[in-house]
Amino acid sequence: MRRAKITGWGKCLPPAALTNDDLARLTDTSDEWIMTRTGIRERRISHVGSGELGRVAAERALACAGRSAEEINMIIFASATPDLLVPNTASRLQLALGNDSASAFDINSGCTGFVYGQKIASDHLSNNPDDVVLVVGAERLTWYLDWTQREHAVLFGDGAGAAVFEASDTDAGVLCSHIGCEPGPGEALMIADFGTAMDRFGPDPMVFDLRFDGRVIFGHAVKGMASACETVLGQAGLGVKDIDLVIPHQANERIIDALADRLGMDHGKVFKNIADYGNTSAATIPVGLTEALEQGLIKPGANLLMAAFGAGLTWGASVVRWGDRIEPLGVSDAELPPCNQSAMELISDAVAFFSANNQDSEAPAR
Ligand code: UT7
Repeated sequence: MRRAKITGWGKCLPPAALTNDDLARLTDTSDEWIMTRTGIRERRISHVGSGELGRVAAERALACAGRSAEEINMIIFASATPDLLVPNTASRLQLALGNDSASAFDINSGCTGFVYGQKIASDHLSNNPDDVVLVVGAERLTWYLDWTQREHAVLFGDGAGAAVFEASDTDAGVLCSHIGCEPGPGEALMIADFGTAMDRFGPDPMVFDLRFDGRVIFGHAVKGMASACETVLGQAGLGVKDIDLVIPHQANERIIDALADRLGMDHGKVFKNIADYGNTSAATIPVGLTEALEQGLIKPGANLLMAAFGAGLTWGASVVRWGDRIEPLGVSDAELPPCNQSAMELISDAVAFFSANNQDSEAPAR
């Protein structure tokens, strides 16, 4: 049976780290609260846009696959934080990589973006087995954050991950994937006051940031991911015991643990790196996959379960049977431009803006 196999993997995390103690200097929170309620210790703040983060991750994934940029036939850029609205970031990435013939499109499915992209790549390859598909999950979510709002300022970070997909005639590859969306509670996670539904020349300036109802999302996240996992396991004819490693979306350590409990999964088989990066949205799964391989947690023939949820509220899961190769074929020397600022310096303008805006009684109702 023809399947889509991951032949290359890569990640890019910007260097500037913002700790919980840094955040406690900006808003009424503490390292203790953030660690116990979310499992996050620090997060990265990017000095470049999502496209540039994605470029470095993509170049590393291509080198890992032993592929050149010209060989890519399709570029899928999964992000809720594109560089521009038009043109899409995938096409700018294509230009930066040096490819001039691939199809290139963005998908915005929030934190589930990579799982959606993987499904599209897998379906595409079943009809186009000679193609090479690049799926990138890249986010600069901190760009949107109001650092005075402790409910969400502590949760998110920036980063990118990428994977190269190619057709395989062995039993390795994406065995099953299942994606969906429950739109009813969609307003529980939104970037409001931005976009063409807004009155561009109305009396109130557009002051946009992330809006968030964590408790609502928490419940839907666990249920949605667990149900998607059960579906793909059933489709693959596998039980929880057949899974060697779960790579879940990293939004909150308690959500990950609740998912593992609901599935009856041994917690030792669940990958976590949320302490280091927070929630990097569409990037969490490809970054997690790359780190799991770097740490030797994936053996040849391993069965992987991936699951995510995000704005929409979207959800998705997939079962991937790993192939023989767990080492990169090559290593890229791609790097981000140097960053000469600390994380606190990088967010200082946003902190000043939101602090002033929130104190201003004339400011638009938020
Ligand atoms: O990937 C998709 C996006 N990610 C998510 O949507 C994440 C889903 N939700 C969550 O991870 C959790 O709901 C949160 C981490 C956002 C919140 O955790 P929680 O256990 O649901 O806390 P809570 O909202 O029930 O708040 C408990 C208390 C409240 O105080 P009171 O009302 O009990 O006095 C909050 O005001 O904790 C307070 N609180 C904080 N305290 C210190 C909320 N955020 C903070 C904070 N620091 N950062």
